[in-house]
Amino acid sequence: MLSKKKKGIVRNGISSTYAERFFTKPVPRFDIPKEGMDSNAAYQIVHDELNIDGNPSLNLASFVTTWMEDGAQRLITENLNKNLVDQDEYPQTGVIQGRVVNMLARLFHAHENNEYVGTATVGSSEAIMLGLLAHKWAFRKKMQKLGKDYSRPNIVVSADVHIVWEKFAKYFDVEMRTIPMKRDNYILDVEKMKNSIDENTICVGAVLGTTFTGQLDPVEDINSILLDIKNKKGWDIPIHVDAASGGFVIPFLYPDLKWDFRLSQVRSINVSGHKYGLVYPGIGWLIFKDKTDLPEDLIFYVNYLGGEEATYTLNFSRGSSMVIAQYYNLLRLGKRGYKHIMENSLCNAKYLLREIEKIDFFEIINKDLKMPIVVMSIKNDAGFDVFELSAQLRQKGWIVPAYSLPKDADDICILRIVVKENFSRDMADLLINDILYFSAQLQNNIKTKIAKVDKNTIHKHIC
Ligand SMILES: Cc1ncc(COP(=O)(O)O)c(C=O)c1O
Repeated sequence: MLSKKKKGIVRNGISSTYAERFFTKPVPRFDIPKEGMDSNAAYQIVHDELNIDGNPSLNLASFVTTWMEDGAQRLITENLNKNLVDQDEYPQTGVIQGRVVNMLARLFHAHENNEYVGTATVGSSEAIMLGLLAHKWAFRKKMQKLGKDYSRPNIVVSADVHIVWEKFAKYFDVEMRTIPMKRDNYILDVEKMKNSIDENTICVGAVLGTTFTGQLDPVEDINSILLDIKNKKGWDIPIHVDAASGGFVIPFLYPDLKWDFRLSQVRSINVSGHKYGLVYPGIGWLIFKDKTDLPEDLIFYVNYLGGEEATYTLNFSRGSSMVIAQYYNLLRLGKRGYKHIMENSLCNAKYLLREIEKIDFFEIINKDLKMPIVVMSIKNDAGFDVFELSAQLRQKGWIVPAYSLPKDADDICILRIVVKENFSRDMADLLINDILYFSAQLQNNIKTKIAKVDKNTIHKHIC
């Protein structure tokens, strides 16, 4: 009986999971196994293997939410089995999606009288692709009407844009005119933008909270220039604002800053619900100021799920849970709740910045913090670089990415810390201690190396 049990033949529910035979065998990696296994064993094998992943709470690299409340988690679990696209079967989920679109459109100052439209997406990447595609289509229609060539559309952006803009340009055959970055200016240069646009520009991209430094492109200035061009040349060039991370921060922290639908040329905005929208991945939102900004022939109507449904997405099936979780957050927190969370995050980011500034070998790249993101480089004479410090910090579980800035500023290598809701003052203090500790260790290693070299040199001399 005992030996049979040990072989895992007797499964009476009282043997320990780890006593099962599966734990002394290699896990299937290539072929689907011939036989299955106990659910406990399958769970434990996968669960244990995933322990090797980083700890999401210490992941300061990602903008993406790593903590949600119990109420949200319950709703997420309860709705995991609903396909968002099946709106005939799950009509209330569709209604909730619409409510979130309303709330975001109004947060971004779409006028109540505007017929704004929008959709949930998997993240900002899908939202940006769909937004720009609509502008490409609208451009084509406009040029066709004028009897002009529409074969060479372009977008004008700064090198501060996320890789998804490049993907869009390649996948959808649009020329990307990129204004390079330069040292001490890591956002869009409006004068250069002015010189890059022409009649074939389908839209100008502006970022609210860049991936590289968390800074804001000057959307109001871009708008003024485009208005001027519209008046002088008749080119009506829209702005798409990539508010992936800023869209849930700036409206609460700086409500008077104009970057959204208050500006006439801003026609579409994307935001990641799974970043400062405080929802787990993957949820993004795309909002058009008016339904006329979304060409009707890009909307598909299908009836094979029951009633007739309109879709404007790159995907078809997808989960509903994160849409519902977004609605939960909006109800639960309200504007005041979001404001308090963003204020706390900014306050902790500013604290971190001040403490890092005191360490003489760091140089802060984005001193005028608007977003809770701290970016710094390490001075050349420190004796170690950002990549070495980033690797050392991993020893304690901290994930702080090191990377070089885009072309023309690519001699600058930085560390970026994204302060999220669950990064408390205590965490900031722990991180600073570890930064100091590992920096000292790196410097000591260098001193030891130098000492060794010196010793050898002396030895050689004596010989
Ligand atoms: C400015 C910006 N745009 C777009 C994206 C892509 O967003 P998502 O990961 O939601 O697809 C990111 C991601 O970090 C980003 O920072």
